[in-house]
Amino acid sequence: MKVLVSEPIAQKGLEKLTQEGAVVDVKTSLTRQELLDVIGEYDALIVRSNTKVNEDLYQKAARLKVVGRAGNGVDNIEMEGATRRGIIVVNTPESNVVSAAELTIGLLFATCRNIPQLHNRLKERVWDRAGLKGMELLGKTVGIVGLGRIGSLVATRLKSFGMNIIAYDPYISDSRFKNLGVERKNKLEELMAQCDILTVHTPKTEETYGMIGKEQFKAAKKGLTVINCARAGIINEEALMEAIKNNIVKRAGIDVLEGEPHATSPLLDYDNVIVTPHAGADTVEAQDNVGITVAQEVISALRGEMVPNA
Ligand code: NAD
Ligand code: MLT
Repeated sequence: MKVLVSEPIAQKGLEKLTQEGAVVDVKTSLTRQELLDVIGEYDALIVRSNTKVNEDLYQKAARLKVVGRAGNGVDNIEMEGATRRGIIVVNTPESNVVSAAELTIGLLFATCRNIPQLHNRLKERVWDRAGLKGMELLGKTVGIVGLGRIGSLVATRLKSFGMNIIAYDPYISDSRFKNLGVERKNKLEELMAQCDILTVHTPKTEETYGMIGKEQFKAAKKGLTVINCARAGIINEEALMEAIKNNIVKRAGIDVLEGEPHATSPLLDYDNVIVTPHAGADTVEAQDNVGITVAQEVISALRGEMVPNA
């Protein structure tokens, strides 16, 4: 069993692979061409979100039987090409959701209280809070788009701050809304008009890509706070920047950028946009969970055993 790990995973995951008898090559700085040149030697490939696993890779991957996604979203993996070739794709949908929910809440606090801006001023030896008055969460309405694993964790945590929670998710039952104490909105525009803080937690699909755009911002309450700790493009970046310029959006906390990884987004120029480099799952706990789980799943799939997240 020869396994190529093309993006960093936890040491515990690598140890698990070797304990189970796999030969593991960790090559996390390969260029795309180098990856295509070596992939033919491997039975399994383990990636995070940066490696694009698509047709040009499959064509070179004569031995590939399993792709392990060390994480949640599988939008960087072309599923149809894998299925056609009998390549099993496994992921770890539960392993990092708490960390992603916690960063969402961290970004929410950081944006609403201007923590990074205040920190930067003081580090520059300037004692000055002027122009950086924050907003309390108590009594405010948060609008969650996508009430799945992470959306639900965010909802339950924000309730403890005395917030009203409304959500838009056409695929979730009324009883789940009721159990979570979240008010259902059947129209996205209705949610936009009512919330003070918007946070998106859908997967990136054809349906969700760009779902928060110009029209949705037009419907929004003035002074909106926007959080995206899900996937770039669910909130259209151009529309977000326009909404900031038009004072519809007052502040934003963004963990995911179009075309990432890079540090050149025009969003970085806005003082009221707080950014993190796709760090939602970057905790010791989440990375250990993800690494161990993906290693176990890849081994099981290579052995032809049942895999829970295939
Ligand atoms: P999930 O599948 O548990 O939940 C997604 C929810 O979105 C589901 O309830 C689904 O019904 C809903 N949904 C789908 N299409 C929708 C639509 N058109 N309108 C409204 N709702 C819709 O997913 P999850 O585990 O909660 O993950 C949510 C997002 O967070 C994903 O994009 C995932 O890739 C991302 N994520 C990011 C990080 C990070 O590091 N920033 C970490 C983990 C997950
Ligand atoms: C995920 O989908 O799991 C996250 O985006 C985190 C990651 O890819 O590391």
